[in-house]
This record gives sequence, structure tokens and C-alpha cells, in this order.
Amino acid sequence: GEYAGLGDVSGKRVLVRSDLNVPLDAERTITDDGRIRASVPTIRALAEAGARVVVVAHLGRPKGAPEERYSLAPVATRLGEVLGAPVAFAGDTVGESAHEVVAGLADGEVALLENVRFNPGETSKDDAERGAFARQLAELADAFVSDGFGVVHRKQASVYDVAQLLPSAMGALVSTEIGVLRRLTEEPARPYVVVLGGSKVSDKLGVIDNLLGKADKLLIGGGMVFTFLAAQGHEVGKSLLEVDQLDTCREYLKRAEESGVQILLPGDIVVDTEFPAGERTPQPVVVPASQIPADSLGLDIGPASAADFAAALADAQTVFWNGPMGVFEVPAFADGTRVVAEALTRTRDHGGLSVVGGGDSAAAVRTLGFDESTFGHISTGGGASLEYLEGKELPGITVLEG
Ligand code: 3PG
Repeated sequence: GEYAGLGDVSGKRVLVRSDLNVPLDAERTITDDGRIRASVPTIRALAEAGARVVVVAHLGRPKGAPEERYSLAPVATRLGEVLGAPVAFAGDTVGESAHEVVAGLADGEVALLENVRFNPGETSKDDAERGAFARQLAELADAFVSDGFGVVHRKQASVYDVAQLLPSAMGALVSTEIGVLRRLTEEPARPYVVVLGGSKVSDKLGVIDNLLGKADKLLIGGGMVFTFLAAQGHEVGKSLLEVDQLDTCREYLKRAEESGVQILLPGDIVVDTEFPAGERTPQPVVVPASQIPADSLGLDIGPASAADFAAALADAQTVFWNGPMGVFEVPAFADGTRVVAEALTRTRDHGGLSVVGGGDSAAAVRTLGFDESTFGHISTGGGASLEYLEGKELPGITVLEG
């Protein structure tokens, strides 16, 4: 059978780069398999076309050597369950086991290689070292499909270099993701509202910079909010604070005012005297954002702010959301994230597009029990979707176009 961009793939070995970087708990049980499910359509299409499918992926950030806790073995099992067909697992990425497993594949069968980041060549900054490892990967296949959207912003051997060595095509997931994100950057329907959260301002600088010229409203929550509050002159107690970003936040607030972009910061905050951990029962207290006690830290946006944010989202035609509003993993600090997620599920009702971007926010909506289909799109890419919105070049995409 045919696969778009590759022609007839039956009997051919096709290497597929997927993003199977899923969260696991201490028992190594997968807590959110969204990325696995999102990867299946491309793998299935190739298998149904008669290809011998060799999936390559990473888990976490091991430092170029095998580490049991980063093994993809549990992911191979789950991939097989979702696919509804066995997935052969290779105990290494390009070694003897990989070659044996690939040689043993019949047409239409699927294998998963061990964590590609167990090999120093994968993430090396040295082009020659990365190239050498990419050649080893390329030996395992006749063609390459790039389908790991969450890693297209990485110039790594299994994303970038290998695409220069084999006939290559874009997978269905990458092409869907790019199609949706394009709607956010090319004349988005207005009002265009962006909700940003997560712990660090420093992770979001590029995207804020870019959105100040494009979005109508920017709603800010999560840990990054305290640097903004401090930039406005408020005391933030023991909350997360990036002192080196205070000037940047002040500049953003000023630029927003000048350009007519509305930046909405929470007016109330849920605080506690300690970060939730261990056996201690959380003691959430709601305080005005301008009166965070010195002995407390902010862990969620307050109920009034959540309602304000929901109101600001009510007539949005385009919404992009990246980063939880609080420590949503702990029920006492999950309300802000839940209320914002709820507001996003209503965007569709009036014909708008809501996009949830980022590993954390995507996991948040699923762990909070939302039905994925009530959102316009849940992106599998965190850093990748942010870099796309920043207007940066994505090496894993450019290499396919080149
Ligand atoms: C992600 O989790 O965003 C992707 O899998 C990329 O992982 P990385 O940030 O470790 O490259």
C-alpha cells in the first residue's frame, strides 16, 4: 500500500519518530497515555499499508546512557494495547537487539526501539557525532516518517539528521498539529485570547513577546504570576519568584498598555504556608493578590480570578492555553485550572477554536476528567507548540521541506 509522500511501502522497513514521552508514576505505571494514543493513527496506517514499522522515541532526559527508570518497555506494552496488535520491543536502539527485532518483523508488524536518548549521539551538539548515530538508525530502515510533534523543535539525530539520510515524509500527527497551530498564527479569528500558566516566566518569554502584538487578551496564572505581581510592587511571600525577570515583566506590562493588549492578572490567590507534600493536609486560604502573607506561597489563582478569566474567555473565537493555573495535581489547588478548562470547553459552542498546548495542560485536562472531544485541539507538543507560536524555525519540520 501507499503512504503519503513515500509511495508504496509494502514490505519496506519504515522508521517512525513518535513522541511517546508519557508521565509514569513511581511504580512505572503510565498516568496519561495521550501521546501514545495520538501516535497510533500513523503507525496503524503504515502497518495497514504493509510496512514493517520501526518506532523510535525517547522517555525523559537520560544522559546518553541506559537507565532502567527511563526504559520504554512499559510504553511498548501500552502501545500494543492501544494498537490492538503486538509490539516487539528491542532492548537497545541500534545494537544487536534492534537489528534482530527488525529482521524478525513481517509485513504489517510493529516494533519499538529502546529509548533513543540512551545513546549520546542522539542529543549531541556535535554534528558529526549526531550524524554518525543517525547513520546507525538509518541502517534499520528504508524510509522515515517524522511524527513526533513534541520533538520537532529539537535538532536531534532521530528528528533531524536521519531525515537527511532516508526518503522522508511528515506523519499525520505532525501535519494535523501544524495545521491547527497555523490557524493561531495566520489571521486568528477574534477575539483571540491566550492563557498562560506554568511555573516559569523564563520559559514563556519568547511567546509573550510575540503574542503582545497578536492576541487581544493575555491571561496569566500559575507560578509565573508571582513575578508579574512582584513587578507591580506587591509582596509575594514565599511564592515562586524569578528576580532576574522582574524588569522583563515590567516591560511587558508597559508594552501591553501601549499596544492595547489586555493583560489580565489574578486579583485573588489561593495560598498555603507550605507546598503540598507528604501526609500534611493542605490548608488553602484565599487572599487578595496584593496581600500575600510573608509566611505563605501562592498555589492557585483564587475563585474571583477564575471567574474573571472565564468571563474573559466567554466570547473568544480563538483560544490558546499553555500551562496550569495552579498545582492542579492536588485537589485543594485545582479549581483555577478546572474553571479555565471549563471555559475553554464552551468556546466550541459559539463556533470558536480552543487549543490546549503543552504536556502539562494536556495532562491536566485529562486528569481532571474532561472529555477531550470538547476542546478544539489538544496538542501533544509543549515546547514545540510554544516555539511554533514564537515564530521560530522548527528543525524537524524544515528538514522535511528542504
Ligand atoms: C516534551 O515532553 O515536551 C517532549 O517530549 C520533548 O521533550 P524534551 O523537552 O525532553 O526534548
